[in-house]
Amino acid sequence: SLPDHFDRPVRIAVIGGTGLGKIDGYTPIASLDVTTPWGKPSSPILILEHGGVPIGFLARHGLYHQLAPHEVAARANIAALRSLGVRTVIAFSAVGSLQEEIKPMDFVVPDQIIDRTKGIRPFTFFEGGVVGHVGFADPFDAGLAATVQQCAAAMRGDGVVLHSGGTVVCIEGPQFSTRAESNMYRSWGGSVINMSALPEAKLAREAELAYQMICMATDYDCWHTTEDVDVAMVLKYMEANSKNAKHLVGAVLDQLAAQENSDKVLAKHWEGSAQGAVKFM
Ligand code: ADE
Repeated sequence: SLPDHFDRPVRIAVIGGTGLGKIDGYTPIASLDVTTPWGKPSSPILILEHGGVPIGFLARHGLYHQLAPHEVAARANIAALRSLGVRTVIAFSAVGSLQEEIKPMDFVVPDQIIDRTKGIRPFTFFEGGVVGHVGFADPFDAGLAATVQQCAAAMRGDGVVLHSGGTVVCIEGPQFSTRAESNMYRSWGGSVINMSALPEAKLAREAELAYQMICMATDYDCWHTTEDVDVAMVLKYMEANSKNAKHLVGAVLDQLAAQENSDKVLAKHWEGSAQGAVKFM
């Protein structure tokens, strides 16, 4: 549990992806080993503190990056955060770019998702007697997206480029796409591609969390005439831009923490949204 002297609820959390293992300016105060009805999350939940506001941090691929995208315990991750009181989640992800103007190291705040996972990842809390259908027309939280955009705009001088809106294509992986697939995703209007947006975003909606993904481009996937994507390329760009990634996430957390302090809990927007969906059935 949290240290006795720290009684603030944890309302805000970051799910760190490949290359985002920690956040600058936030002091670790606890590491929570949580178990949920859906098993254990990918990593202990680190509680960081900054200006009196606690932030939860979860490493999506585990502390040692030992979990492949299809092995991530997404239900346990979301349930564990929710069980701590989290209502707002910023999720980070390395992505391939499907558009010329989205260059490696650019950030994208997507507003749509195309599901190209294969249905083999557990993707819902609503089964086994609990039937529910949540709305998912807009998979991300527009208020959180606006906060991220404002923070990135203030960092333009540091070379931070952020694209507002866009569609993330989430593939099953762990293999990268074929060239034919990559071109098809472009023809569908995809902006970026990853292996982690789903089922995380669906589960966050079912859990009534405000959820926004921040994508960082690490490659041009394989449609582009430059080199085809491989792991070394993803890691090279991730490493090269990790300072900006940490600064951006830190700035976003500062904003969310300030909003939390002023009692404007963004996620009130989603509170109760799944209840109707369950009762409806
Ligand atoms: N993550 C980073 N780059 C990617 C790509 N090109 N395809 C899928 N996931 C990725």
